[in-house]
Amino acid sequence: MENTVEKALEYVKKVFENDYSGHDFFHILRVYKMATNIAIKEKADLKIVQLAALLHDVDDIKLSPETHTNKDKARNFLTINNVSETNIETICQIIDEISYRGNDSVVPKTLEGKCVQDADRLDAIGAIGIARAFAYGGNHNRVIYDPDITPNLNMGSEEYIKGKSTTINHFYEKLFKLKDLMNTDIAKIIAQQRENYMKDYINEFMNEWDGIR
Ligand code: ADP
Ligand code: NI
Repeated sequence: MENTVEKALEYVKKVFENDYSGHDFFHILRVYKMATNIAIKEKADLKIVQLAALLHDVDDIKLSPETHTNKDKARNFLTINNVSETNIETICQIIDEISYRGNDSVVPKTLEGKCVQDADRLDAIGAIGIARAFAYGGNHNRVIYDPDITPNLNMGSEEYIKGKSTTINHFYEKLFKLKDLMNTDIAKIIAQQRENYMKDYINEFMNEWDGIR
């Protein structure tokens, strides 16, 4: 499967070439690297983790709704590259479990799934997470902030995907919840640092909002 990881890198580079929604190739690359680091610490199966990390967004419901349910793109890639049926099922299950669905999110069943979910979620917080949130907001025509629109803290998956909120609200609706949802010890430590940074950022944002200082 060594070679398959390299092929998967090339494949996702092509798939995400023209994405400006915060799911670009570099997001995938960061998740791949972070998932690898977590997997080494956790002694998880490296190849399963790496393939799931690289393929985790190719069938994303927002980017590819028609292949989302069956994970057609991930499945086709793995089949063409002779990955065993058992490993294909494991990888597709991990991909299915990792995505954030508000209150309907799940804890992955396997250690490998936990590593990939943590890596994906770490990329949504901290300095990079802030950049991705505003990139996503701009891409979806959302305002940066509107004090009259209050955050909805209890969204299920449907509302999470379809709702129209502000990007600052997204910090409360998702980003500040992620630290407590981390599965592995190392991800918990990194998440705490990144959350502190985001809290400082939001404080500064609110200080500047009134146009006084
Ligand atoms: P992931 O790739 O981690 O599964 P999503 O597909 O939910 O994440 O979103 C991709 C990026 O866009 C993440 O950084 C996420 O925080 C951000 N994002 C998602 N929904 C919103 C939103 N409503 N407002 C601002 N940013 C968002
Ligand atoms: Ni992702």
